[in-house]
Amino acid sequence: HLQELEMTQECRDLISTLPTQRGWVHETIHQYQGFWFETLFMQGVVAFQKHFQADHDTDILLATNPKAGTTWLKAISFALVNRLRYPDTQRHPLLTVNPHILVPTLEIDLYNKREVPDLTTNSFTSRRLFSTHLPYSMLPISAKNSTNCKIVYLCRNPKDTLVSFWHFCNRLRPMSTSTGALSLEDAFDMFCRGSSGFGPYWDHVLGYWKESIEKPEKVLFLKYEEMKEQPIANMRRLADFLGWPFSPEEEAKGVVNDISKLCSFNNMRNLEVNKSGKGSLGQENNIYFRRGQVGDWMNYLTAEMIKKLDRITEEKFHGTGLRF
Ligand code: A3P
Repeated sequence: HLQELEMTQECRDLISTLPTQRGWVHETIHQYQGFWFETLFMQGVVAFQKHFQADHDTDILLATNPKAGTTWLKAISFALVNRLRYPDTQRHPLLTVNPHILVPTLEIDLYNKREVPDLTTNSFTSRRLFSTHLPYSMLPISAKNSTNCKIVYLCRNPKDTLVSFWHFCNRLRPMSTSTGALSLEDAFDMFCRGSSGFGPYWDHVLGYWKESIEKPEKVLFLKYEEMKEQPIANMRRLADFLGWPFSPEEEAKGVVNDISKLCSFNNMRNLEVNKSGKGSLGQENNIYFRRGQVGDWMNYLTAEMIKKLDRITEEKFHGTGLRF
């Protein structure tokens, strides 16, 4: 079973006041501050918002919709930020530890307990690296206001995000509900209505997109599809944005290439830890490595579904400059 809920009475009381719908992983999801959250994550969402302090000058927050490529972004960012500490990619923590352990998700791994965690201890290095699925509007004020807390957002096209999320939730469902698999038709409807975990998908994307345009030094907006096409160029962009570009010596030594290879889908997926290890909620690590391709939606969505999803996306992103 997924980790037992460690919910305070305050959180239970809050949940009882929220609109509730059918869940993807658990029985129910709840609408809070305009977005939808599985019951399992509510405690962590509320505690993260309330207690997180981005008071370190060098904090880095990786933000994503679920299934946008979070695992990949975690791996790349960890390798980039720690490249002096771990220069040898043949003997690297990523070879034996899953990226979700190396870069914890604030509301899922750290604030999900009754007790508020102390994130100022030595176990968090001077350049703290965290991730979150929270939309921009819901981030704690200190994370939004501190100019030095950098935010990296990774976005993936809605059709692949939906298909990936549907597969993922169906892998997790047996651990938390006895109601069987979620049909693609039902998942599609829920996704289009916006009631998917941390969704509506489009509002999530647009929140970060707008901030990345208004404050490009604070929020970097990356796309999964562009990363797949040009991983090296995008890793350079990321390193530049974090204020730590690759030096000519590093370029000459092929450091960018090494990190790209280390974090590639095929390499990560075939590591023993990612084939047979388990994560902090008891989930198998291999659920984070399915196909890792662009356009797998073609194998699942009907012509009608494609038309509807494209229309919603065009309407929602119209006039924003954001395209897929
Ligand atoms: P698919 O289900 O389409 O294969 P997240 O990490 O946000 O949970 O997203 C998971 C998706 O990213 C899955 O997509 C997974 O296969 C893909 N993925 C995981 N690691 C990857 C990597 N190193 N490179 C590219 N894609 C990766």
